[in-house]
Amino acid sequence: MTAAIDIRGLRKSYGTTTVLDGVDLTVAAGTVTALLGPNGAGKTTTVHILSTLVRADGGTATVDGCDVARDPDGVRAAIGLTGQFSAVDTLLTGEENLLLMARLRHLGAKRSRARAAQLLEQFDLVDAARKPLATYSGGMRRRLDLAMTLVQAPRVLFLDEPTAGLDPRSRHTMWQIVRDLVADGTTVLLTTQYLDEADELAGRIAVLDGGNIVADGTPDELKRLVPGGHIRLRFRDEGALDAAAHALASSGATRPADGVPADTAALSLTVPTDGGVSVLRALLDRLDRAGLEIDDLSIHTPDLDDVFFALTGGTPRENRGTTTPTKGSAS
Ligand SMILES: Nc1ncnc2c1ncn2[C@@H]1O[C@H](COP(=O)(O)OP(=O)(O)OP(=O)(O)O)[C@@H](O)[C@H]1O
Ligand SMILES: [Mg+2]
Repeated sequence: MTAAIDIRGLRKSYGTTTVLDGVDLTVAAGTVTALLGPNGAGKTTTVHILSTLVRADGGTATVDGCDVARDPDGVRAAIGLTGQFSAVDTLLTGEENLLLMARLRHLGAKRSRARAAQLLEQFDLVDAARKPLATYSGGMRRRLDLAMTLVQAPRVLFLDEPTAGLDPRSRHTMWQIVRDLVADGTTVLLTTQYLDEADELAGRIAVLDGGNIVADGTPDELKRLVPGGHIRLRFRDEGALDAAAHALASSGATRPADGVPADTAALSLTVPTDGGVSVLRALLDRLDRAGLEIDDLSIHTPDLDDVFFALTGGTPRENRGTTTPTKGSAS
């Protein structure tokens, strides 16, 4: 496994505020890692250090094999960063902005035009290509920003809250663009406030809080850190319910807690689970042996919001977990 990003003991303070207090993080080449954390946790600071815009106070960081402090030019040649072109002339059209960027990257007139046309097509900006940026919506602006970053395909891409403020459709478009980039081998470090976005895109999630990485793993691994996963079983009548409660007593079966609608709760039992298949299998075996039929079964896994609140010391929400219906793939 080659590391596209390697951060060791990274430190950064502003005045008396310690933002990064010895952060360690490695991102494997060709993967997407999401950096999560509450407002002010230091996500943007981390991205800015990695993209050479801000100097660290201590520790080391390499991007695509180049040390950010000793070889900033090497880093800059390898990376793309969204948001960095927000200050472009809004009187220029989208196409002119792309051409300008291509010329700045020494692409030559012919290749510049070809690349601009390709990106406008890819980012669904063909109709808007000849209109000044000032007339673009937030989502179009965001897509153009990313397109400009990609004029010369970067090996490592930093996306700092790439879909903040976008509508659901634009978010999905952006997600697909990111997936396509990763399929082509780009490494992505993404910061986001949207946990579903991290869940959707990232193979790995690192949670930054209080100056350190407080959790690091796949979305599933992080979800397993938080208790609250359970299986809910519903039975046809009171008789079956009582028999099942008896048969499953040693599995920790209880009547559903508050917050479950009365009609669902009435004939239901809740059994805690770690989300693994073995718990489910054991449960079904027991019911089978007792000759009991289930009317309905659902699996509730804690989602990343639960993880986020649990890890970053926020107020936990009421346990609302996601529901996996019986016919869905229960994992
Ligand atoms: N140039 C600066 N001067 C002083 N303090 C700064 C500067 N840049 C960032 N900070 C402080 O560093 C801390 C981390 O900021 P940063 O922007 O990295 O957080 P973030 O995780 O990106 O937050 P958000 O989710 O709001 O974008 C904050 O307390 C912020 O006020
Ligand atoms: Mg930020």
